[in-house]
Amino acid sequence: MIELINLPSEAPYKKLEALYYQALKKNQRGIEAISISSYDSSSCEVESRFVNLKYIQGNEWIFFSNYSSPKANQFESHDQISALIYWPAINAQIRLKAKIQKTSPEFSDLHFKNRSKEKNALAISSTQSSPVDSFETVQKAFQSTLESMRPDQDRPEYWGGYSFTPYYFEFWEGHENRLNKRQVFSTQEGSWVEQLLQP
Ligand SMILES: Cc1cc2nc3c(=O)[nH]c(=O)nc-3n(C[C@H](O)[C@H](O)[C@H](O)COP(=O)(O)O)c2cc1C
Repeated sequence: MIELINLPSEAPYKKLEALYYQALKKNQRGIEAISISSYDSSSCEVESRFVNLKYIQGNEWIFFSNYSSPKANQFESHDQISALIYWPAINAQIRLKAKIQKTSPEFSDLHFKNRSKEKNALAISSTQSSPVDSFETVQKAFQSTLESMRPDQDRPEYWGGYSFTPYYFEFWEGHENRLNKRQVFSTQEGSWVEQLLQP
């Protein structure tokens, strides 16, 4: 589930909301999965990975991650990303371009406080994406962190939220005979301009 909070009343958000509730009604599994592609300026490569989108609050799309991970370094040097959702239950794709930044520490603290102890133990024990000699090492670090955590455990500074604000949306809806509908919303001089694309 994605928590939708005070969505803007503008056209792309109306469309997003309509598709989200259609997918939810069709019991779309993994509805919160979103692929984030970022640019690594040191290797000149683009990388993608899924994350779980937790909130869309106003025009901010929010997920949580490790602030020392490869993606974090990529966001730091190049804050433009593209994001992608596919909901097979309704055969709809949403393509986004956006700028990304960290959420406020207070927002990350609040989310951390409301998560399970187990999820937080892993956020603390994992040095995300760094090589490790065995999976057992991962399990042991998790277990010992879990056992040593206080009930009011603070969020580690290397873990927190990311918020991105799309400036481009493309909604793709699959229909029979490939008569697919592609609807683009892009910002021009502060307002959304709608355009249809050939399938
Ligand atoms: C469905 C799905 C959801 C995921 N959600 C998150 C997430 O919310 N945050 C996160 O850091 N990694 C998440 N991951 C793991 C990432 O895809 C990725 O392996 C990890 O963040 C390391 O990425 P990086 O090396 O590019 O920084 C998820 C993976 C999948 C398949």
